Amino acid sequence: MEDAGAALAGERDVCMLGGGNPARIPAVQSAFRGAMNGLLADGKRFDLLIGDYDGPQGNAAFIEAIAGLLNQQFGWPVTPHNVALTNGSQSSFFVLFNMFAGLFDDGSRRRILLPLVPEYIGYTEMGLGMEMFDTCRPIISLRGDYEFKYHIDFEKLAVGPGHGAICVSRPTNPTGNVLTDIEIGQLHKLAEDHDLPFIIDGAYGTPFPNIIFSEATPIWDPSVILCLSLSKLGLAGVRTGIVIANESIIKSITGSNAILSLTPGSFGPGLVTEMVREGTILDIANDLIKPYYQKRARITMGWLKSALAGYPFRIHTPEGAFFLWLWFENLPISSEELYQRLKQRDVLVIAGEHFFPGLAEDWPHSRECIRVSYALDPEIVQRGITIIAEEIKAVYELAARPV
Ligand SMILES: Cc1ncc(COP(=O)(O)O)c(C=O)c1O
Repeated sequence: MEDAGAALAGERDVCMLGGGNPARIPAVQSAFRGAMNGLLADGKRFDLLIGDYDGPQGNAAFIEAIAGLLNQQFGWPVTPHNVALTNGSQSSFFVLFNMFAGLFDDGSRRRILLPLVPEYIGYTEMGLGMEMFDTCRPIISLRGDYEFKYHIDFEKLAVGPGHGAICVSRPTNPTGNVLTDIEIGQLHKLAEDHDLPFIIDGAYGTPFPNIIFSEATPIWDPSVILCLSLSKLGLAGVRTGIVIANESIIKSITGSNAILSLTPGSFGPGLVTEMVREGTILDIANDLIKPYYQKRARITMGWLKSALAGYPFRIHTPEGAFFLWLWFENLPISSEELYQRLKQRDVLVIAGEHFFPGLAEDWPHSRECIRVSYALDPEIVQRGITIIAEEIKAVYELAARPV
């Protein structure tokens, strides 16, 4: 994160393929600019938005619009009592994880079970003073010459009294994996059997931004905590997270908002409430955002396949989000070293080994992968890929030379 911040602030022409910023999609930007103009033109609404605190649960009109959208879209029995806002879903996870994991009054310690790694790097370090996660290695299936996919290893996944919740991101950051309906059904059952909340991180999921290229049925019931965000719609700067959960969890989130920040920010809700109420947010997601990333994924994969043809590399099948997860089998250096070499050449990616929170065993595979974002300007992504390919070829070739 520090390197990414320095790169953005500096003057060098860095290929920033490492960050989580959404793409600048002109039609989407124009829709949000239009919403902003509408807000500014309505003096009363604007003055209220910037001048008043909302309640600690978050902006009431937006919450009502979200509940209505979820009723209409999926038929879920969600009321405004099932929705709370936060200052970005990163803060939703901080509160939820520390609510369900840690040291409890009865002396027990509980962890969050991540059924599949690699998993979102932002979850790491959220435990206040203790290791917070538990996980196990996934199953890998190879697909054709250049792709692969991770699957949850249900035989190894042991749920027990030491767990406080189960959590998955769907689509998954960093891999672009979308857990299948069967996997989600099995996890949901496991969570219910052990009386655990099932947290689904939908930062890239349905109903918005809906950056999902495969078939995936969304689920919610009172045992599920669905975390949404406005960020990946192109609104990362407004910092709005949305938690959909049973009333008791919503009350806890509301209480923690009151303590941490009095109330979540009003700006994101003020900007998009009309769009949520009218359903146009879904048109933006489905007609503009999803096809944009789907096309970008296809093009970027084409560049990678031609740049690295003949070398031992595979791409996790991109089923959603906006990252490609590259696996260089038997990479002679660690992914962290590769990251450093690429940084020297002004290409920033993220080393794979940081995406395995809670994995106790040493797994060489975790040091053979990198995450590359394809959300930036295509010219920058292509330039970055050329340099990645040069470095990878040099590394394999050097290792293959007789000593
Ligand atoms: C999977 C996932 N979850 C949560 C977040 C946090 O999003 P935000 O705090 O911007 O809502 C991100 C951001 O990159 C993410 O990729």
